[in-house]
Amino acid sequence: MRTGIFITGTDTGVGKTIVSTGLILALKARGLNVGYMKPVESGCQVLDGEVVASDVRFVREVCGIRDDMDLMCPYRLKAAAAPSIASRLEDIHVDISYIVDQYFQLSLMHEIIVVEGVGGLMVPLNNNEVVTDLILQLGLEAVIVAKPGLGTINHSLLTINMAKMMGISVQGLIVNGFGKDVIGLPERTNPDEIQHFGNVPVLGILPWLKDLDFNACKPGSLLSEFMERIDINDLLPGDDDGY
Ligand SMILES: Nc1ncnc2c1ncn2[C@@H]1O[C@H](COP(=O)(O)OP(=O)(O)OP(=O)(O)O)[C@@H](O)[C@H]1O
Ligand SMILES: [Mg+2]
Repeated sequence: MRTGIFITGTDTGVGKTIVSTGLILALKARGLNVGYMKPVESGCQVLDGEVVASDVRFVREVCGIRDDMDLMCPYRLKAAAAPSIASRLEDIHVDISYIVDQYFQLSLMHEIIVVEGVGGLMVPLNNNEVVTDLILQLGLEAVIVAKPGLGTINHSLLTINMAKMMGISVQGLIVNGFGKDVIGLPERTNPDEIQHFGNVPVLGILPWLKDLDFNACKPGSLLSEFMERIDINDLLPGDDDGY
């Protein structure tokens, strides 16, 4: 039975936090009790002595989630680098089994947890484990966030195929940020090409939202656009393939 869904991406900055937020808002609009976890965030700023994870801050504010910060984001690292590097600088060991424990606690409090990854699938978390190890140990299925433009077919297919090779089930791919750049032939044709070669469903295309302000924690039209354009029917709790 599904207790959560893992949002990964073809790269850092592709829109995992925005898609996670849209998904949480859309699930909440269906009456579900939804949690969020960002197991590791690097590049955190220190404000008034507190280490602030900006992804978690955005989701908490926009979605009104008030869980303990140590459950939502157990590893808040300062350096803007891969977690393996950032954690080494602070003499911290990113321990996947600890993340799984925190996830389990969160899952007792919610019907479904949206877990946001770090960068893409092959980002190192410690000396010998990468994001795919985290997904497997959490026992989650993945949704991939990808860019709309030139280059995204290659990045998407690499990500889809790596997930499959590792035994991770991919529920679908969401194209994010459509219309930020000029909409040309690649933007119009990439989703079908990815779906064909990747053999995973494209769940929808989320436009670039001019009224969204990340720093001010303002989602703008995110909920209405997400609900209109992204198919979440196969992402609901308890609706997985039964493993
Ligand atoms: N659909 C969108 N509309 C408007 N702005 C967007 C959209 N998607 C992303 N952005 C902007 O791009 C930035 C990067 O997106 P986001 O933070 O979701 O990426 P990410 O994949 O979560 O990055 P990270 O790897 O750092 O977690 C956001 O802070 C936001 O300002
Ligand atoms: Mg993010």
